[in-house]
Amino acid sequence: MEDIRIAVIGHGFMGHEHEKMLSEMEGYRLIGFSDVDPAQLEDVKEGLIRYASNDELIQDPQVQVVLIAANNNQHHDLVCQAARAGKDIICEKPIAMNVEELDDMLEVVDECGVNFTVHHQRRFDPDFRVIKEVYDQKSLGDIYTIKSSLYGFNGNMHDWHVYIKEGGGMLFDWGVHLLDQILWMMPGAKIRSVFADLRNVINFEVDDYFKILMKFDNGVMAEVELGTYYLADKPHDKWFERHWFIGGNKGTAYVDGFEPQGKIIRTSRLLTNVQGTRTMTAAGPTRSFGPPVEGTILTEELPDVRTKHEDYFINYRKAYDGQEDFLVKIPETRRVLALMEAVRESARTGMSIPFEA
Ligand SMILES: NC(=O)c1ccc[n+]([C@@H]2O[C@H](COP(=O)([O-])OP(=O)(O)OC[C@H]3O[C@@H](n4cnc5c(N)ncnc54)[C@H](O)[C@@H]3O)[C@@H](O)[C@H]2O)c1
Repeated sequence: MEDIRIAVIGHGFMGHEHEKMLSEMEGYRLIGFSDVDPAQLEDVKEGLIRYASNDELIQDPQVQVVLIAANNNQHHDLVCQAARAGKDIICEKPIAMNVEELDDMLEVVDECGVNFTVHHQRRFDPDFRVIKEVYDQKSLGDIYTIKSSLYGFNGNMHDWHVYIKEGGGMLFDWGVHLLDQILWMMPGAKIRSVFADLRNVINFEVDDYFKILMKFDNGVMAEVELGTYYLADKPHDKWFERHWFIGGNKGTAYVDGFEPQGKIIRTSRLLTNVQGTRTMTAAGPTRSFGPPVEGTILTEELPDVRTKHEDYFINYRKAYDGQEDFLVKIPETRRVLALMEAVRESARTGMSIPFEA
């Protein structure tokens, strides 16, 4: 099988990540980069082409796949341009600035008949895949809550990510991944309603904090919370916190960190109606919140799931050869965009927004 010949538009943060990964990935030949800012191309690796323009890259007959890693507000035009040149396209997330923009892109993509997918490599984050596996195993009974949270401690928003018109803000940056994970985890479940808070805690233009509640028709209330300004005096290796919690009527599970640590926890007998023992705690005397009866709490190891971001491109290669489906399907990304619009609407009005009837 010949290598897929791929070129990348945008040699910034993500462009560099793609350069590193695709230079080493089996099944790919990285051809080169274009960037509106020529200074960004100065450190392109030896042997790769530094295209003088996007157009030159897109029109290069040796390029089969164009990967778009430019600012969010550039995706629409670049996708349309690449599609019209007959190139297959991988676009960085978020696929577009809104549903309307995406629908416009899809008209062109469909007309040109090219492959089109989105780089949602965080579907392979190990912490997420462990919690997804716990969910898929269905051993926690009826799930009532799923909580996904991410906290940063330095309040740092940077570069164009601080401007609305460029597609800045944390909802577009990390929110799109966190929502995509929840929706992909429960593919058949519809979201009945969305209630969200979206704030500029320290940024002037864009959101740097959000809490999103989604009520699903399978009974799950999912909560996604992200804060960039949770100031704390953490040791350096704790500067970034990631947590999952999933609760059902037959057990709970938690996962902490991107290198997942956690447990599945059950009780040896249901504790619905035990004698109310009075326990003295720091919060004062309590019956419901005291420790469980000795020996009734059972813990299990989390499933051993090993995934890595390279798996995204392994799937892409197989899908390109017709051996698998592309992992990330456009209607899924459209649904996430629509959800983000409902999030903004809820945050603006302070109301819960009905979503999928
Ligand atoms: N999948 C992920 O985990 C992930 C992580 C970070 C960023 N991203 C996405 O990658 C994209 C780029 O983000 P970034 O953080 O790397 O930004 P960045 O600012 O570091 O890099 C963007 C680069 O694109 C160039 N550029 C802008 N407009 C262009 C145009 N019209 N044509 C050619 N080049 C253009 C800029 O000069 C810059 O070099 C965004 O869509 C972002 O959401 C994805």
